[in-house]
Amino acid sequence: MAEIRLENLSKEYVNRRRRRRSRQEPYQKPGDRVLVLDGINLEFKEGEMVCILGPSGCGKSTLLRIIAGFDRPTAGRVFIGGKEVCGPRSDSIFVFQYSGLLPWMTVAENVGLGLRHLKDPQEKADKIREYIEMVELEGFESYYPHQLSGGMLRRAELARALAVNPSLLIMDEPFSGLDFLTHMKMREEVVNMHEFLGKTTLVVTHDIDDALIMGDRIVVLSGRPSTVKLEQTLDFPRPRDFERSPELSRLRSEIFLMLGVPYAV
Ligand SMILES: Nc1ncnc2c1ncn2[C@@H]1O[C@H](COP(=O)(O)OP(=O)(O)OP(=O)(O)O)[C@@H](O)[C@H]1O
Ligand SMILES: [Mg+2]
Repeated sequence: MAEIRLENLSKEYVNRRRRRRSRQEPYQKPGDRVLVLDGINLEFKEGEMVCILGPSGCGKSTLLRIIAGFDRPTAGRVFIGGKEVCGPRSDSIFVFQYSGLLPWMTVAENVGLGLRHLKDPQEKADKIREYIEMVELEGFESYYPHQLSGGMLRRAELARALAVNPSLLIMDEPFSGLDFLTHMKMREEVVNMHEFLGKTTLVVTHDIDDALIMGDRIVVLSGRPSTVKLEQTLDFPRPRDFERSPELSRLRSEIFLMLGVPYAV
């Protein structure tokens, strides 16, 4: 059901304040229009994990918000499973760039949010435990978000998203703010979960390595106004390793260059 089609999608924001993004740019006046997405055509297959890369401010979060139905495009249309998206849907779930957990609820209550349809309390408790175990947060069920570390918050958020059993999982920089080791571990967990559950997953990331290690396909967007600069299927077996795959390594250098860094670090 989660085959997604973006048809000629454009998004323009109207500026409300006098502001500028950098010293080099002229000031924008209230009423000025900012074209963020410019005619995006993309398709995502059912069960596919696609990683979306692009420079900061190019409109990646905007694109995800439109697919999730939280925002409307200025022009163009989004179809999921053949139906046009006109608002948020219960079968897709969003993992936010900044934490989306409710601060007044414990980890277990947050994870249980997506399980409100289960009337049997025992069944609900079992499911909550299952997802908490999946992200290795056993023992922290009664903790509130402010009592968790950054990595634990991210894992709790992932459990909350998976508990909904969505047909579409949308993740906006799911590893932002994590330390190196937690980042690596969570990346592996997401890849394993994807292989195990086979959900259609869209991941926005600014990390080229994440995209190349995780994705079945990558999409690179240009700077604003954003267009699709590259679409590439990644037929490399997992687990992927840049050292053992010269072709993956070459693609990595190419994408670094494409995003304005002349050498891959
Ligand atoms: N509600 C809004 N009103 C006006 N402008 C907006 C709004 N939301 C986003 N923008 C502008 O749209 C552009 C794209 O924003 P967006 O958050 O989608 O970028 P991004 O690619 O996710 O950036 P980052 O990588 O830094 O998260 C930015 O220039 C931003 O200022
Ligand atoms: Mg963003």
